Amino acid sequence: MPASIEQILSSYNDRAPLSEASTIPAPWYVDPRIAELERLNVFSKTWQLVARTDQLQKPGEFVTARLAGEPIVVVRGSDGTLRAFYNVCRHHAAAVVTEPCGQAAMLQCPYHGWKYGLDGSLKGMPEFEGVANFDRAQNGLLPIRVETWECFVFVNLDPQAAPLVNFLRGLVQRVAPLGIGTLHYFDRRTYDIACNWKVFVDNYLDGGYHVPHLHKGLNSVLDYKQYTIENEDRYCLQSSPMVTSDHDTATAFTRTGDRAWYFWQYPNLMINCYEGYMDTNYVIPIDADHCSVIFDFYFSDVSAAKRSYNTESVSVGDRVQREDLGICEDVQRGLKSRAYGAGRLSVRREAGEQLFHRLLAADLKGTPAPSIAAAD
Ligand code: FES
Ligand SMILES: [Fe+2]
Repeated sequence: MPASIEQILSSYNDRAPLSEASTIPAPWYVDPRIAELERLNVFSKTWQLVARTDQLQKPGEFVTARLAGEPIVVVRGSDGTLRAFYNVCRHHAAAVVTEPCGQAAMLQCPYHGWKYGLDGSLKGMPEFEGVANFDRAQNGLLPIRVETWECFVFVNLDPQAAPLVNFLRGLVQRVAPLGIGTLHYFDRRTYDIACNWKVFVDNYLDGGYHVPHLHKGLNSVLDYKQYTIENEDRYCLQSSPMVTSDHDTATAFTRTGDRAWYFWQYPNLMINCYEGYMDTNYVIPIDADHCSVIFDFYFSDVSAAKRSYNTESVSVGDRVQREDLGICEDVQRGLKSRAYGAGRLSVRREAGEQLFHRLLAADLKGTPAPSIAAAD
């Protein structure tokens, strides 16, 4: 008989100290019931990155996205206010905005032509005369919480959620000195991966454990022994001093500065910084066995003179990512094997993974997370 969802959830011990801890068990990565519980308890309740502020500067600029299966649209109003809505027409449920991004004076549904203002209010319904007991004021687009931090736009499907700054907490102060607001968006890469979204996050949070083995180019510019891991609230900062190297010229040329900064914010956002460089990784669960990861690349100088340098830098990032893809898909196959149940964690390297698993367990079980300290 298959295990019940309660049995699967209770098979992870989130109280164990790191030296005795195991990962979340394999069914958490492969069972569709866990994926559905995550959709409801994690992705429908946490602040999620959906756009950049530079995409939503002028009145009428909009971005569409899907979040926890829900179609959404974020739009800058004529009054300068940023708003988000479910992108679902109140008439017969078509998507009102069908472009990924753009600018419009009015939001018009392509199906029967209903028109909504940039503030979501219903402005017009063709051929609707004679319809009784229909209150136009009650039929605007349904609003969603939206807030910004640095150059990022976040939404939250939970009307009761605490404000974004309460969610990000310590991350706000920790990122501030890096001055990421001075960087400019350059390019995007999207990767579709045949693995659970948590396999990708685990791979990110292993404290550099896999770097010497899987990323020889990247490893050549990091002082691996000095790699540090800080856990706090809902974020983990992995950081390493940089060293000069002639092992891999493209990496040495495009990954510079004193330190590499790798921030992960629960549950699915990563922010990676070098000098004059940032990429963000946003992980979107598709189903239990698949995810998509969006990489956005930013640079301090995006002028034409720097185009080839920036392009080379993106391809270095792309190469590292491709090195990770194969292993993530291998891990997903292994997690389905009868030979595997759960794995132990390196005390030196894998505290970030434990933080992730504890936060996730708390959300899925509906209990407070145990107090979190990297050293316990
Ligand atoms: S579904 Fe939008 S106008 Fe009919
Ligand atoms: Fe990696």
